[in-house]
Order: sequence, then C-alpha cells, then structure tokens
Amino acid sequence: MRLLFVTSEIFPLIKTGGLADVSGALPTALATTGVDVQILLPAYRGILAQCDAPQRLGSLQAFHDIRCDIYQTTLPGTRIPLLLIDYPALYDRYGGPYHHPQYGDWQDNPLRFGLLSKVAAMLAVPNMLQSWQPDIVHCNDWQTGLTPYYLQQMGSMAKSVFSIHNLAFQGNFHADWRHRLTLDDQDFQPAGYEFYGHLSFMKVGLYYATALSTVSPTYAKEIQTEQFGFGFQGLLQHRIDDLTGILNGIDTQVWDPATDPYLPANYDASTLQAKSAVKQALQAELGLQPLPNAPLLGVVSRLTHQKGLDILVEIAHELLASGCQLAVLGSGEPALEQQYLALMQQYPGQVAVTIGYNEPLSHRIMAGTDIFVMPSRFEPCGLNQMYGLRYGTIPVVANTGGLADSVQGGALAADGTLPDTMTGLVLAENNPSTLLVTLKQAIQIYANNGQWKQLQKQAMQQDVSWETSAKHYLDLYQDLLDI
Ligand code: ADP
Ligand code: GLC
Repeated sequence: MRLLFVTSEIFPLIKTGGLADVSGALPTALATTGVDVQILLPAYRGILAQCDAPQRLGSLQAFHDIRCDIYQTTLPGTRIPLLLIDYPALYDRYGGPYHHPQYGDWQDNPLRFGLLSKVAAMLAVPNMLQSWQPDIVHCNDWQTGLTPYYLQQMGSMAKSVFSIHNLAFQGNFHADWRHRLTLDDQDFQPAGYEFYGHLSFMKVGLYYATALSTVSPTYAKEIQTEQFGFGFQGLLQHRIDDLTGILNGIDTQVWDPATDPYLPANYDASTLQAKSAVKQALQAELGLQPLPNAPLLGVVSRLTHQKGLDILVEIAHELLASGCQLAVLGSGEPALEQQYLALMQQYPGQVAVTIGYNEPLSHRIMAGTDIFVMPSRFEPCGLNQMYGLRYGTIPVVANTGGLADSVQGGALAADGTLPDTMTGLVLAENNPSTLLVTLKQAIQIYANNGQWKQLQKQAMQQDVSWETSAKHYLDLYQDLLDI
C-alpha cells in the first residue's frame, strides 16, 4: 500500500501545535506496519538546510504561472521519504507557516496552501514526476483541503482521506480565489465547495474526500452537533458513514521520561523518586519556592479561548490559597497572556509564567510538575494530557473530545481507595467551580503519598503509543482500497 501523507507542519522541522507532532509520528508508525509512505510539505525558510542531502526530483507546473521544484530527502531521524515543495516566492519568508510575524495571517495563504494541495494531487497522477504513485492520499486540516477536489478534477485513481484536527480553523477565503486556484465555477454551490458565499478549504476537504477521519471518537460525535460543528454539522451528519474517529497516539521515543535529553534527571515508573529531582530543578529554573511537597500544577498551551485557560485564571486566587504552585508556558491572546503575567506578579515564587514557545522547557514542565491542567472548551484530541500520563504528571481535563477518550477519570471511593482504572481526573462540567473542586480533589490525592504513587503508576502504564491507532488507519485505508 502506497500512501502520500500531506501536511503543513511536521516535527521536528516546523511546529505550531499538535498537527506537527502527529505528522512526525504517524507516518513512522504506519511505515512500521509495512505501508510504503512518503510525506509532502512546503519548503518553508530553512527547511531544506535542516534536511539531509535534499535531491531535486524535478519540477511541476502546478498553475499556469507557477512552476515549482520538488526536492526529496528523509524526515530527520527516520528513513521516510520527505518531499518538499520549493517555491521561494510563497514559502521562503521570515515568519510562521500561517502567520506574518506581526500582522496576522499571510494574505496569500489560499495560494500557498492551494499549491500544497495541488502538488499533492499531481503526485497521484501517473508519470508526473516519479514512478511511485500513492494509492491513498492522506490530507490533514484545511491547508490540504483542496487536494481531494484536484484529485477528482485530474482524474486520479487515488483515494483520499481527509483528517480533521481542528474544525475551528477552516481556511475560508473570498470566493474570487476559486479562479486563481482553478476550481470549476459549476462547483461553487452548497453541494460543492461554497460555504456561506466563501471558498472554504475545510469544506472542500469535507465534501470531496473519499473518507473523513478525526482525531478522537468523541470529537467525531461532537462535530455533528451545532455546538462543536462550526457550521459543518449538517455536512458531517450527511457523511456520517464515511467519518471515523481515531485517537492520536504520541511519539513514545521523543516523549520518554527515561531518556528525555531535556531533563536534568531521568526516571520511569519504578524510579519515581528521580521525578522529585526534576521538580526541584524546575522550581529553581522558574524562580518558584523550593518546596518539595507543594503540589505543582503545569500548563503548556496555546493561550486561546479553545483551551479554557481563562477558567483557570478565574479560580486562581482560591486555588493558590491552598498553597499549590503553578507553572505556565504558552502564548496566544494578548489579554490572557497579560492576565497570567499579572498573576505571576501577584504571587512571586508561587506562580511562574513564561510567554513564548519553548520546546525544551515544555518537556521540563511536563516532567517536573505534579498535575497537568487542561480545561479545554473543545479538544479534538490534545496531546499534552497523553504526555502527562507518560511522565506520571496527572492530567486534570475537561470532559470533551480526545481528553475524554484518553484520560480514565475517577475519584476516591468512600472507603478512601483509589480505583485501579483511574489515570487522571475528568471534570464533570466545564465551569470554574467544578474545575476548582476537581483540582482540590487531585491535590487531596497528592497529599497521600501511597495513593499518588499508585495513580502515577497507573497513568504511566496506560498505552498512549501510536501502535493501536496506526492499525485503525491501516484498516481505514484498506477499506477504501477494497471498495
Ligand atoms: P493544539 O495542537 O490544539 O495546540 P495539542 O495538545 O494537540 O494542542 O498539541 C500542542 C503541542 O504543542 C504539544 O506538543 C505541546 O507541548 C506544544 N506546545 C504548545 N504550546 C507550547 C509552547 N508555548 N512551547 C512549547 N510547546 C508548546
Ligand atoms: C489540533 C487540535 C488538537 C489535536 C491536534 C493533533 O491542533 O486542536 O486537539 O491534538 O490537532 O491532532
């Protein structure tokens, strides 16, 4: 089975969030099961230089005025072929993959990701560039949304899977872009790529892909409702037979407390005392008081409405009165950043806030804190709660999407015993008072050393690898080829 995996970000080359982690790990897991996989990514600034000996395969005339070079290399740390689209006018620029360093989205994003989508489809047409052609093209999020359309337009035999990582980001643009991107006018209609008068890349993916998947079973159900569907619930209900929810896994080599190079000490479930050394070092690094028994709460996140971290700010005073500490790493909405910075000023030595993006520090917070907080309003999958499980840092999560599917909640029984299935705490409802009560429950368990160790061990034993999930993708691909 030959698979082309198309993505706009990939760890370790370019990352803004969980999509990069998934793109870096899932193809490797699939390759292990015998899938012949290649990955396609735009050659953003500096990417070619980070890769091993990129070879120019040739060039493709993607649009009448755009001829781009395609380079082949391997995904660093693997033997998986990585194809890079080299078109400097669109990709070689200072800034993020989606955003200008100062002024929001790149204005030519429709063209930048239209090109990615088009090249993906061209690679699935015989004799374009290489003898290798995919049976399946696996697209991810709106940036690859036009691929299923182009596949059809070009008469490709390949089947497409479109994975929804976050329905809130839709790639909706002025309808005039359809001409520039050579979409047929006759398909600009509700039963096509039109979405409330716009061209929606997300809609194109949802409408034209052979199969749809999303990153957890619960989110697959949620997005069929008005609350979580962001206007696509009707279409998703219509395509219910083609929609599967497959829970993400994590890269258990990159995220392994026993070998993690960013940590001052390594540990596993049998050497949990070394986790205290990591906590102590983290407290020192962040300027927190060196209190070994103060429960240390961690947050690593985009600071946006989705993540519900304003709810944590609301209860912060009451929570901190209990004597716990808080370590936050994140960036996002300026108002929320300010609220967290203000909290740090108000509670020196008890609250540490780092605004920015910092991969090594994210590992140290994951390992050095005791409790990891994720009160997301919606969460398609979420990876940090799974990193928390693996690091024995107990997740306290909202009851939504992949959080609900990956954390086995529970509470102490009346006789004080801890359920042997429990790996974290799940909020009964997502509001400030429930968050406060649930965090206090976690802190109560933390105060009992024996119970806490038991909970940590149960969390660390939970399987969060890609192994099972990769098999589900394999079944999905196989079903498409059998049709
Ligand atoms: P999302 O993709 O919605 O942001 P996920 O939980 O799926 O949420 O993935 C987020 C990823 O980005 C995780 O690997 C997390 O550790 C990382 N991350 C988020 N914010 C930061 C940050 N400020 N610094 C370093 N890593 C971060
Ligand atoms: C998106 C979602 C997140 C998910 C990630 C990877 O960024 O917001 O919940 O874990 O994609 O699938």
